[in-house]
Amino acid sequence: MTTNKETETNTFSTSNSDSEFFMRRCSIEDLDGVVEVNERELPEDYPYFFYKSILDNFPETFLITLDQNNTIIAYIMWRVEKTPSIDSLKYLNKGHLVSIAVFEKYRRRNIATKLLMESMSAIKKYKILQYVLEVRVSNYTAIKLYEKLNFRIESIKKKYYRDGENAYFMVLNVKNN
Ligand code: ACO
Ligand code: ZN
Repeated sequence: MTTNKETETNTFSTSNSDSEFFMRRCSIEDLDGVVEVNERELPEDYPYFFYKSILDNFPETFLITLDQNNTIIAYIMWRVEKTPSIDSLKYLNKGHLVSIAVFEKYRRRNIATKLLMESMSAIKKYKILQYVLEVRVSNYTAIKLYEKLNFRIESIKKKYYRDGENAYFMVLNVKNN
């Protein structure tokens, strides 16, 4: 059985074809590899059905990076959230970065930057006004990455994480183009 979603999965690669890494949309068969990267690199783990529901609902912005052996070495996933606007009955869409991680040995090679840029472009089809995310206040590396992409710290969410650590809530307004 082949659905449209599945056939669309392999429709793009990284723009520089000489790259040793390959970026594409995640498919259901890739989820075990995504879970593996998450469990090795981040303390926030999610049940399988959580990844599956993100993939089912927002497949365009769930991307993975593969090395030359076709091993998944990085992923990014987003969800779109509707929040009621204050001054009207309309809803405003926000793109919420759920999670991104790159295997430690492949870091600092622009893999996260490429995943972010590609997915942030793809999520615009949901007519979002803002990109938003939470990050541990101690996660200097990730904060630098987001700042490089022009995210700004908007507020602190106290005790956001289960271990009691605070989160920075970072936002970036989507340009109207
Ligand atoms: N020290 C300082 N700045 C850094 C570092 C570092 N070690 N690593 C990345 N940056 C900043 C730099 O500005 C860098 O640009 P530059 O190399 O031109 O100076 C920029 O980020 C881009 O770096 P990339 O190479 O694109 O990032 P990378 O592929 O290494 O991945 C990531 C960054 C995802 C944060 C990685 O370190 C990682 O997987 N960390 C563990 C998981 C994690 O913390 N994920 C984010 C949690 S928050 C969330 O998911 C919403
Ligand atoms: Zn979040």
